[in-house]
Parts: sequence; structure tokens; C-alpha cells
Amino acid sequence: MLPAAFSQKGRPLVWGHRGASFDAPENTLAAFLLAREQGADGVELDAQRCASGEVVVLHDDSLGRTTGFAGLIAETPYSVVRTLDAGARKAERYQGERVPLLVQVLEAFPLLVNVELKCDRWDDRGLTAEVIRFVREAQAQERVLLSSFNPLCLLRARLLAPGIPRALLFEPEQEWWLRSALSAPALEAGALHPEQSLATPERIARWRRRGYQLGCWTVDDTDAAGRLYDAGVSGIITNRPDRMRARWP
Ligand code: G3P
Ligand code: MG
Repeated sequence: MLPAAFSQKGRPLVWGHRGASFDAPENTLAAFLLAREQGADGVELDAQRCASGEVVVLHDDSLGRTTGFAGLIAETPYSVVRTLDAGARKAERYQGERVPLLVQVLEAFPLLVNVELKCDRWDDRGLTAEVIRFVREAQAQERVLLSSFNPLCLLRARLLAPGIPRALLFEPEQEWWLRSALSAPALEAGALHPEQSLATPERIARWRRRGYQLGCWTVDDTDAAGRLYDAGVSGIITNRPDRMRARWP
């Protein structure tokens, strides 16, 4: 289970996936602030290190899709990343939005933050330790949930900062031992975050019996969200916080 701050009474907790990313450019301050306006309880974001070591908020390995810059984030220094436009490709009115630093989001966004540690290697090149350092510096330990598809990142997090809650992510495309969440007990994960198609009523009941809180992604359909909630899922990670809050005012 997670601390009480990570659940709501009478409705699911609503996380804006990469912010309010249906309406605003994903993983930008504009998307996070819009998620708050739309009634989200918190936001989910993707954390990675760029070539010069800063922790930035970006989903893909490459900067191309969101900024148009043909470079990998791991090979691009922050002096370049900070000049890129992460908003214009979504809509003209978002021109000038930047790829934010994690620390800027923690400062500007006061609600819950689900920091996804994005790393598919054994060696995370210091990502987990740096994220924890920034969370502590921002005194955000009480409102941050760390999640990852990579059990090693969550193991590092458990060892470095056992008090910051953890959620294990998994999806159908992973190998069976990963998509079965076998590592969750060793990680002392308080929550499981399966891709929504994995969350059958039978599995939800089994995971709940084992004591896990559940959050599903990426759920933009309110009927699907309602079925998941009724079955025992307490967190909905959505691109459309506005819709979810209209369903649960
Ligand atoms: O945390 C849920 C979700 O963000 C995981 O998938 O690829 O959107 O980061 P992805
Ligand atoms: Mg993510």
C-alpha cells in the first residue's frame, strides 16, 4: 500500500499522463499546470539524464518527435536541450515551451508527482540517485511516487530512499517474469502500475489480496476507468484528466 496521500475517497486518484497531454505538449510545464487546472490530483512524468548529467523530463530516447531535434537525449548536453522548442509541434500557442528539468517541475507543480525512472539498461548512470537527490532538495518526499519498468531502478530507490514510495510498471510486451511483477515483493513496491489490458478483474483481485495498490495506464475512456475502479484499481493515469474529473466531480 502507498501512503494515504496517494488515494482519494469515493473516486480514483487521477494522474495526468505526461501532464494533460491530450491538450498540451507532453512532459512540459504547460501540460503539468493544465493537468492541475483540469482537476488532476497529480501528474506522471518521464525522467532521464541528458549527456551533461542533468535530469530532464522526456519520454523518448530521441528528442526528434517532440522537439524536431535529431539527437538522442543521452548524447545531447543540457546547453542544447534548453534551447529546443517542445511545444510548437503540438500547437502554435505552445511555441517556446521547453524540455523541463525535473527540479523545475518539482518547484512549479505543487501536487503529487509520479516520477517514472526511464532506463532500460542495467546501469542507470546515476539516474535514480540524482532523482532522489532532487526530490529531497525540493522536500517533495511526501508527494512523489517513483515508478519504473526497470526493477533495478526501483531496487536502487529502495536502498537509497526506502521512505519514498515505489510502483512497479509492466506491460504485455515484456518478458513474462517482468509482466508478472515477480520482483515486486523484493522491491517493496507499494503499488503495481500495469498497462490497462493486463488488469483483468481476476488479476486485480489477486493483486489487491497481496496488498498492492493499483494504478492503470493509459486510460482515456471513462467507461473503462469506471470498470477498473469498480474492480479495485485506485489510480487512473490518463491523458485526459478533464474527462476523468467530469466522470467523478
Ligand atoms: O507510467 C505510466 C506510463 O507512462 C508508462 O508508459 O511509455 O507512457 O512512459 P510510457
Ligand atoms: Mg511514463
